[in-house]
Amino acid sequence: MNLKFLCMVISTYVMTFNTLFAQQALYLDVHQPIDKRIENAISLMTVEEKVNMCHAQSKFSSPGVPRLGIPEIWMTDGPHGIREEVFWDEWDGAKWTNDSCTAFPALTCLAASFNPEISALYGKSIGEEARYRGKGVLLGPGVNIYRTPLNGRNFEYMGEDPYLSSRMAVPYIQAVQKNGVAACVKHFALNNQEKERMSINVEVSDRALYEIYLPAFKAAVKEGKAWSIMGAYNQFRGQHCCHNDLLLNKILKTDWKFDGAVISDWGGVHNTEQSVYNGLDLEMGTWTNGLTTKGTSPYSSYYLANPYLQGIKSGKFTTKELDDKVRRLLRLIFRTTMAANRPFGKFVSPEHSEAARKIAEQGIVLLKNDKQTLPIPVGKYKRIAVIGDNAIKSLVIGGGSSSLKVAYEVTPLKGLEAKYGKDVIQFSKGYSSDLDDKKPESKLIADSLLASAVETARNADAVIFVGGLNKNWFQDSEGDDRQSMALPYNQDKVISSLLATNKNLTVILCSGNAVEMPWLSQIPALLQAWYLGSEAGNAIANIISGEVNPSGKLPFSFPKKLEDNAAHSFGQMSYPGNSKKQEYKEDILVGYRWFDTKKIVPQFAFGHGLSYTTFEYGKIAVDKKEYAKTDIVKLSFAIKNTGKTDGSEIAQIYVSQPKASVLRPVKELKAFRKVNLKAGETQTVEIEINVQDFAFYNDKTQTWDVESGEFVLCNAASSANVKSKVTVSVK
Ligand code: BGC
Repeated sequence: MNLKFLCMVISTYVMTFNTLFAQQALYLDVHQPIDKRIENAISLMTVEEKVNMCHAQSKFSSPGVPRLGIPEIWMTDGPHGIREEVFWDEWDGAKWTNDSCTAFPALTCLAASFNPEISALYGKSIGEEARYRGKGVLLGPGVNIYRTPLNGRNFEYMGEDPYLSSRMAVPYIQAVQKNGVAACVKHFALNNQEKERMSINVEVSDRALYEIYLPAFKAAVKEGKAWSIMGAYNQFRGQHCCHNDLLLNKILKTDWKFDGAVISDWGGVHNTEQSVYNGLDLEMGTWTNGLTTKGTSPYSSYYLANPYLQGIKSGKFTTKELDDKVRRLLRLIFRTTMAANRPFGKFVSPEHSEAARKIAEQGIVLLKNDKQTLPIPVGKYKRIAVIGDNAIKSLVIGGGSSSLKVAYEVTPLKGLEAKYGKDVIQFSKGYSSDLDDKKPESKLIADSLLASAVETARNADAVIFVGGLNKNWFQDSEGDDRQSMALPYNQDKVISSLLATNKNLTVILCSGNAVEMPWLSQIPALLQAWYLGSEAGNAIANIISGEVNPSGKLPFSFPKKLEDNAAHSFGQMSYPGNSKKQEYKEDILVGYRWFDTKKIVPQFAFGHGLSYTTFEYGKIAVDKKEYAKTDIVKLSFAIKNTGKTDGSEIAQIYVSQPKASVLRPVKELKAFRKVNLKAGETQTVEIEINVQDFAFYNDKTQTWDVESGEFVLCNAASSANVKSKVTVSVK
């Protein structure tokens, strides 16, 4: 062999090797565009490997491609902290000792802050915790709309208004994903009750769908650029949402151009064919519990496992849909676990505690404060009675999938003791959430708890009652709904007995839902304190003592009684349905849209929340009187802190169209702004709103339409407290 020929042979080998190597390694090259990496990886995968990626391999993970070094996807609940590790295919905790997280406040509290910046802080912090724990997907945030105060999962969502929940969801998602962790926005869509959630078939008009129930998901996808979304358990127009052609193929993937992965809710898949064709990418939780490879229902029997593979092999399905699913799952992996420069995360850091406390402080809502009952500065009273089970109960445990194993939880009692001193605070339980109503001895215990609380209150200068709901079954808990709007465990009686003894009574409600308040007119002060997570007690004590001035506003209306709520005004078919089907008969009139339009006075209106100071709103002004449909309205108004304390006010802008060709709510939230004002300070608030945002969804043409005519813009301190109005015309 001459030298020239040898060189040629060697160089051919080197070239071939290089090409092969380069081809194979392309998907591993983080500097290549993601789509190139995806196509390269897909070209190297077998059909078996592809199908394998489309279903779970454990309770919270799905397989990668071990042969190619493509990692598994590890997921975690969400949405308030990083769930403890569970056994491979059981719900039970695996008893690790390094997985106790920071609990952040529930999403209702976040929504009550009306502060997108604090939502970004939330997303950053929880995203860091997820990243540290090695998770690729965080199962949250939840953005289902608050339709009824009975929904057991409202605490995981962001209230009744599509605009508010959209504005709050976007920064959370963006900040989570900066950690190389995907947000998985849930539960898409119309999972607005827990009762019958696995089967109920929701019928709702196109208008209500597009105007009320979809906007937060749309914002999450189009603005938040969420990398994954979770299908809901329920059905919509006769198809389960985890494989719903209209929701997933048409709206999500075609109209909104979602390029991420659709993950099923755990056990939300019911059918192979629909899962193949109707937009599902990853099937989770169908069966589990000790059945990895043996038994009758192993992971390989999932709808998108062997039945799918067999279907492909027999020619029933082509690989077109499969490749689309795998592309999306690879994209998810390349964006997360296989991303370049992925930060390392942090877990239970002091910054996370501070973030949790700040979010809690900004979300607490002062609902009532007569005769300056609050604040109670340190040193003002010698004895403060703290009464109530929720002052000592863990409110991070329970409630279903959002239950957390925490590094620590400062209860309200601990927080108040730390603030005022143990010698000042006297605790008495007053009621118990652990008693069994049916047992005769329970009554005796309840009576004695009440008697001793009344004694504690009698000898105190002030009484703070800490009650509300909790995460027990039939309370604020996944899997079923509350059975009534009343406070449980005899709390109404406890509150009225305390009142009869000591009028200086502050009630603090920890809950994710509205409750009935038969005692409201007699108590001087009321705080809505949600579920506040690890820093609950410190945040509550800072508000009660006045070190932090409350600024939260209600993200949903509190009705006086259940029948005043829209969903409950149309009988069983509207809520909860006849176990097979339900119709959202109130249509677009959800929350304050209903109260306003039907002229029903709520107990507390959407957007209501007081401060220890007072604010005066100036008249709203606009830059023009007449606008084109593509214009932006520039509005402004002054706002003054007229009290003696620094404080923050959340100013709200509502828009109405008094004369329209279709029914329109009396007014709808279109903007809000949190303004921080020193005592005596005045600021001018300037806000821009697109005229396009005045549109309604036209179900005949399937377009968003702005009609020519008059629109009224108002600035308001709540949906029931309009300060001034201006009329503009749109041509
Ligand atoms: C819940 C989801 C949750 C999943 C995993 C389901 O039951 O509906 O929100 O993410 O379980 O825990």
